[in-house]
Amino acid sequence: MPAGVTAVILEVSPALDRPADGQAIARAAALLRAGELVAFPTETVYGLGGDATNDDAVAAIFAAKGRPQFNPLIAHVADLATAETLTVFDDRARALAAAFWPGPLTMVLPRRADCPVSLLASAGLDSLAIRVPAHPVARALLAETDRPVCAPSANLSGHVSPTTAAHVEADLGTRIAAIVDGGFCGIGLESTVVDLSDGAPALLRPGGVTPAQVEAVIGALSATSDPLSGAPIKSPGQLSSHYAPRLPVRLDATAPLADRREALLAFGHPTPEGFALVENLSEAGNLREAAGRLFALLRRLDGADVDGIAVMPIHVRPDDRDHGLELAIIDRLRRAAAPR
Ligand code: TXA
Ligand code: MG
Repeated sequence: MPAGVTAVILEVSPALDRPADGQAIARAAALLRAGELVAFPTETVYGLGGDATNDDAVAAIFAAKGRPQFNPLIAHVADLATAETLTVFDDRARALAAAFWPGPLTMVLPRRADCPVSLLASAGLDSLAIRVPAHPVARALLAETDRPVCAPSANLSGHVSPTTAAHVEADLGTRIAAIVDGGFCGIGLESTVVDLSDGAPALLRPGGVTPAQVEAVIGALSATSDPLSGAPIKSPGQLSSHYAPRLPVRLDATAPLADRREALLAFGHPTPEGFALVENLSEAGNLREAAGRLFALLRRLDGADVDGIAVMPIHVRPDDRDHGLELAIIDRLRRAAAPR
């Protein structure tokens, strides 16, 4: 979306019972499919939606929120059958889906090998958070879009979660293409996040479904947080499983080292000569493109037969519309380079 243009407000009745509602949903779905960002109501909070299968759209979500870190995002889908095409369900996951979907429960599950969702949405992890929301507007939009939609809460980083379209407009009105206004949408409490991706199920975030309700279906959750304070248990930076390359990573590289065979993770051009292998985050030096490719390229280089990964400095062009996104890119590269 060109800078300075404000979001189109697509008003719908929460019950979707007016003739114009179908058109508004169709328009919102078309924008999502075209890679634009569209905020929409769910039963918990308004979500900032983008096509989960489009690296650029997922990167744009982080840019619009101004998040200095790549937290993994929730992929929203219309139904369980679609969810099963993205992630691997075991008996516990199916039981939870039967009990709480559609509704405010998010499950973190292993990504299927052929999962089409951007690796950026998983922040490089082998798992994906997924939920089927209950709000009729969200369900209609997901069905019409016919793609998984990533949606964190539709507020600027650090602000409270939005429960009306006016909240969304105040924070993001100049940063996204459209807002589907379905009125007040809930109590501002986000979905409960349960990790079923490895070993014992764990509560990652308290929310609309209580731990006792989850435990009644699948047995004890491992104690991981203080549900009273709501303190995040595995905050993004502390995810025990957070993606870390196997190879040593060297930052701000401008030339090869004499004694090491390194792969180069480049940014912009020209790129230095003498590396065993080169992948470029963005030849044009575009931050959104770089963010969208970051985890996929790190993984590719990490699988190469070299001694380490060298990363070029991330220089920001002053006119880059996604100025700020470099913070999250550099944060993740620093973590990758940190001694382990
Ligand atoms: O109610 C909600 O869940 C709202 C509405 C819009 O659906 N969405 C929302 O998304 O709150 P977000 O991105 O703000 O929160 C996602 C939560 C974060 O705590 C994140 O760390 C966790 O889910 N999460 C996502 N993917 C994960 C993964 N692969 N592993 C561990 N945690 C994950
Ligand atoms: Mg949030």
